[in-house]
Amino acid sequence: SGFVTLDPGYKNTGATQSAITFLDGEEGILRYRGYPIEQLAEKSSFIEVAYLLIYGSLPTAQELEDFSNRIKRHTLVNEDMRKILDGFPYTAHPMGILSALVSSLTAFYPESLNPNQTKDEVDLTIVRLLAKISTIAAWSYKNSIGHPVIYPKNSLDYCSNFMHMMFAYPTETYEVNPIVIDALNKLLILHADHEQNCSTSTVRLVGSANASLYSSVSAGISALWGPLHGGANQAVIEMLEEIKADGGDSKKFIAKAKDKNDPFRLMGFGHRVYKNFDPRAKIIKKSADDVLSALGIKDPILDIAKELEEAALTDPYFVDRKLYPNVDFYSGIIYQALGIPTNMFTVMFALGRMPGWIAQWKELRENKEPIGRPRQIYVGEKERDYVSIEKR
Ligand code: CMC
Repeated sequence: SGFVTLDPGYKNTGATQSAITFLDGEEGILRYRGYPIEQLAEKSSFIEVAYLLIYGSLPTAQELEDFSNRIKRHTLVNEDMRKILDGFPYTAHPMGILSALVSSLTAFYPESLNPNQTKDEVDLTIVRLLAKISTIAAWSYKNSIGHPVIYPKNSLDYCSNFMHMMFAYPTETYEVNPIVIDALNKLLILHADHEQNCSTSTVRLVGSANASLYSSVSAGISALWGPLHGGANQAVIEMLEEIKADGGDSKKFIAKAKDKNDPFRLMGFGHRVYKNFDPRAKIIKKSADDVLSALGIKDPILDIAKELEEAALTDPYFVDRKLYPNVDFYSGIIYQALGIPTNMFTVMFALGRMPGWIAQWKELRENKEPIGRPRQIYVGEKERDYVSIEKR
């Protein structure tokens, strides 16, 4: 059946043509629709970046207002969704809830299952997802602490409304702090897309079977949950806390990471594509300093992280393998400073990645890409005859 090239992990296989995100791993360049990530992180807002990724160009003031208002109109989730949420024990990881509830949107909006939706219908499906994901994300956290859910407050902008649903209770009102909201916008922008990574490829692969946007993104959330992917931001903080509890000796953990008999890896280090630096990590490191000092927080794990980075960057093991801090190395420190609990870090990543997943799913559909179907090289048994059970 023809010649099959083996490429485990798709290290050199391009699966698609895409006009969304440009990434140069050697030079450390990342651009959304041509705009450098540094400029977007500095000047844009998350909702503006979402529009840019999904529709291809920066919105006019009117387009941005319309888009933002449309999202606000759809932040409420069906009351029956609460019953599904109530079925989860408080021990449920918020990522599992997120994936399940996004999948369950297909039940409330069965029209999303139609692969031949009109452009307007697809737009509505998209707006619903962007709007409801912040409500679902905040509710998944409320479930984990056994608190009642907080309904969206649509007078607030996207990020402030999310923080309101996270923290309004028990203090009743959430005091919007512009430093916090700016930091959150920046983090979500930095996570908004990253071309054909594991979760995005998952979204495209599932979508290529003409599955709905909600099912495709639900699969993407499951992929992102893995500790080698988005789950790394939670793993980084856990690692830094472990180092702190152990007396703060970063050298010892560097040695563990280098030991091939020890499964321990330096979480937040290394990247499949970036081989000189991760441009997102540069921005986040500076932001961690700025945000912590603006909020008047002195967090010893920030010092441990910097020490660890310095030690690794001068160690031949990491230098030879071109292992640098990635986006997740400092993001958790900022999330912690914003009051976001550790088990929500990967949910924050999913919230940020949502526009990217949506844009990639939409592009796949518009380009009418064929169903994804990798091949294999079979290495199993040759043909053999069935042996009856009494003769085995
Ligand atoms: N600590 C110690 N050694 C490492 C690490 C690490 N974090 N990352 C890679 N290596 C070693 C690895 O053992 C291998 O060594 P050798 O050549 O001696 O066998 C070499 O470096 C190449 O690594 P690889 O696993 O073949 O590289 P990959 O491209 O398959 O994996 C990675 C990339 C990100 C999964 C990996 O670097 C890793 O596990 N990092 C830690 C987890 C992490 O931070 N993930 C977040 C990625 S960025 C956010 C996102 O987009 O998801």
